[in-house]
Amino acid sequence: MGMHHGGGQAGSALCPQPRQTVQAPDEFYNLVNPLGNTADNIEKGRLLFSLDVQPTCVMCHGAQGDGTGGFGADMSPKPRNFTCAETMSPIPDGQLFWVIRNGSPDTGMPPFQDLRDEQIWQLILYIRSLGGQ
Ligand code: HEC
Repeated sequence: MGMHHGGGQAGSALCPQPRQTVQAPDEFYNLVNPLGNTADNIEKGRLLFSLDVQPTCVMCHGAQGDGTGGFGADMSPKPRNFTCAETMSPIPDGQLFWVIRNGSPDTGMPPFQDLRDEQIWQLILYIRSLGGQ
């Protein structure tokens, strides 16, 4: 696939991506996205991801969501590559929900406590639309 490994160059997306993220508590982990997988919800998620939420997800996860945003370049672990199915598809919706709301402990992924549930689910539909489902 021509993926680059190591080197830490900006613009190199890892797939599969090493993942040691803390698992969400059961009451989150088992949640299922209640929203329909519609073009409208995905577009709302895209706007939240790229524009409306501060700091933007794009800063770290990149404009394509492949984990290569400039602000995340020196982070360890690296921002998640949402385009990587091998890493993303085993992760349940409820896990993604918990990390977006509460952050990922001891990593660069910050909590977004002000987002409404509906907005987080829209973000998740957008993230899943990037090819990593
Ligand atoms: C300041 C940098 C930064 C910003 C801003 C950021 N993230 Fe992250 N994100 C990270 C890092 C670093 C990780 C990897 C954490 C890990 O490996 O546990 C991550 C991981 C994730 C994960 C993976 C959860 C898992 O269990 O694997 C999701 C989902 C996520 N981010 C969503 C978002 C969304 C949505 C936004 C915007 C609302 C956002 N992030 C903004 C840095 C960031």
